[in-house]
Amino acid sequence: MALLTTHTIAELRRRIQRWRDVQQKIALVPTMGNLHKGHIELVNRAHELADRVVVSIFVNPLQFGPDEDYPGYPRTLEADQVQLAVAGTDILFVPDAKEMYPTGTENIAKVEIAGLSEILDGAYRPGHFIGVATVVAKLLNIVRPDVALFGQKDYQQLAVIRRMVRDLCMPIEIVGMATVREADGLALSSRNQYLSKSQRAVAPLLYRTLRELVALLRTGERDFTRLEREAVQKLTAGGMRPDYVCIRMAGSLAQPDVNTTRFVVLAAAWLGKARLIDNLEVDILTQADQTQRLRPARAPE
Ligand code: PAF
Repeated sequence: MALLTTHTIAELRRRIQRWRDVQQKIALVPTMGNLHKGHIELVNRAHELADRVVVSIFVNPLQFGPDEDYPGYPRTLEADQVQLAVAGTDILFVPDAKEMYPTGTENIAKVEIAGLSEILDGAYRPGHFIGVATVVAKLLNIVRPDVALFGQKDYQQLAVIRRMVRDLCMPIEIVGMATVREADGLALSSRNQYLSKSQRAVAPLLYRTLRELVALLRTGERDFTRLEREAVQKLTAGGMRPDYVCIRMAGSLAQPDVNTTRFVVLAAAWLGKARLIDNLEVDILTQADQTQRLRPARAPE
């Protein structure tokens, strides 16, 4: 089946308006392309939630730092189109930078989520979440979907987007979906292809380390600083260069205390030229590992 691909905001809006005229529900799945099973699960879920599914592919320059992998980020449009056609996507939107940022990326309105944009990954990638929130706000304004779907692997990104939608009164349901993993636990990511064979063998250590932290939280350990430090040591000993391992309150990413019952453990670590991120949520009042199943609705703030 052929996939309708458009490169302009004007054409995309024209087509979406026809659906809106007949009261069809619209879902948006924003991506940067190089699609894997995790993206396709978002698209499949989008089809369950809406009548029409729009997918965007845009490698957003605004969310990359000057020394990051923007130039080399994998761009695989043709293969992506094949996968999206099979998944039944109604329209693929592939703007170029000029279409999204006609006056450049400097002197434009940008979206900053105070208190969330600059912590954790934001501290290591200054400006990253301003870039993410700005481009997602633009995509949401262009498409005006009823629902938009994002992977929970980018946990902080999801928190930033939920906060933006709430604070800016955007009438859009944000759906976060569980991380899709390889059999050995490695979270699927476009950046995994930067790993050499030997690095790929080491990579699941990130997930294992997070699992161990979850287990320790379940046994009642509450010395968060020590737990984080020991996890960093473990990753380092395994050959990774961790940026951070952090234990936070689920949803809000605030610092936990002894009364916290819903945690998220998050980590970012370099392995060669790949920067891997991962996270696990844990609710110590239940036995369920919440990241291993679909999360149909909003996580509490
Ligand atoms: O997660 C991504 O692929 C990107 O950060 C997003 C949400 C498409 C914004 O560019």
